Amino acid sequence: MTEFFPMKSGEGVYSYTKNSSAQRKFADNAKVMIREAIIENLDVKTKTFLIVDMGCSIGPNTFFAMQNIVDAIKDKYHSKLSLDSMSPDIEFHVFFNDHVTNDFNILFKSLFSDQKPYFASAIPGSFYGRLFPLSSLHIAYSCCAVNWLSQAPKELIDVKNKGRIHYDGASIEVWNAYVAQFHKDMGVFLSARAKEIVPGGLIVLILPAIPSEISYSKIGYKMFTFLESSLIDMVNEGIVEESLIDSFNLPIYFPSIEDMTKVVEKNGYFSIKRMELTNPQSNIDAKSCISHLRASLEGTFTKHFGSKIANEMFERTLEKIEEISAWLEDEYYKTSRQLLLVLKCKINS
Ligand SMILES: C[S@@+](CC[C@H](N)C(=O)[O-])C[C@H]1O[C@@H](n2cnc3c(N)ncnc32)[C@H](O)[C@@H]1O
Repeated sequence: MTEFFPMKSGEGVYSYTKNSSAQRKFADNAKVMIREAIIENLDVKTKTFLIVDMGCSIGPNTFFAMQNIVDAIKDKYHSKLSLDSMSPDIEFHVFFNDHVTNDFNILFKSLFSDQKPYFASAIPGSFYGRLFPLSSLHIAYSCCAVNWLSQAPKELIDVKNKGRIHYDGASIEVWNAYVAQFHKDMGVFLSARAKEIVPGGLIVLILPAIPSEISYSKIGYKMFTFLESSLIDMVNEGIVEESLIDSFNLPIYFPSIEDMTKVVEKNGYFSIKRMELTNPQSNIDAKSCISHLRASLEGTFTKHFGSKIANEMFERTLEKIEEISAWLEDEYYKTSRQLLLVLKCKINS
């Protein structure tokens, strides 16, 4: 059963719409590489291209990403057609996928505020399962979404992650449980897509990742430890039950190139056409970093701790701004990585 962790909806100060420039930067950085990969590798004959953004959230990033893909296909098609001197006669159907709890109203409100060069539909449901008919999709795109596991590893009910909310700095057992959950989830993701994508169609994934040489104990994105330390402060002041922290784990994983290669090879239905690990060149400041975390994670924390504790945790983390700024300067800007993975479907499973 996949759990639901929607981004903060609406258009308020902590909404995802207003706090997703970091994810936009990831997509922008990959824009040219995606365009090249589509022109070089997309190998399908159709007049109607079916494209999906998996984990699209509420916008606006998804619109830029879909436009980029549509433009790349048009250019590929045009250049081919100019040789054949045939008229371009292609149409696009874009599907916006996210959990059923995603605020699709906001998404479609902004979508129809101007003319888009495609037909649009929502496809609610988890991408860790089938969403489309057999052999119907041409491109499945996803940005900053497959980091979200279907659930926090269930093994952590027995292997307690005491006083921690993630694997960063945790024991090797905790880390192994996350690795296993990621491999299981990505396996399910690829098997579902192998059924849905036509031979010659593509999967394009962008996600925060880690360099392979980093050891497990340094593997996390320390940003979660700032939230964690706010919660621990609240335990020490008797505001939060310690057991509530012990039983909470963020369902998020940052894979390495090795992780991805292993899952793709085990699945066997896709060939790797492009795999690039780059520095996202982020220049996010500490305050925006906390707002971004809040827009993405508030729902998850609220579900477990309740809205009062979740709110106080984020407010208290704002008081750690100097510490967070120092970490951004000293570590994050230099060591953070994003992964672009382009897979081509060999045959349908
Ligand atoms: C950080 S947001 C990224 C949104 C958008 N792709 C972007 O780049 O701005 C992650 C999104 O993935 C969605 N998501 C996470 N797990 C999912 C799943 N199993 N199925 C569908 N959507 C999922 C979340 O609901 C959320 O909207």
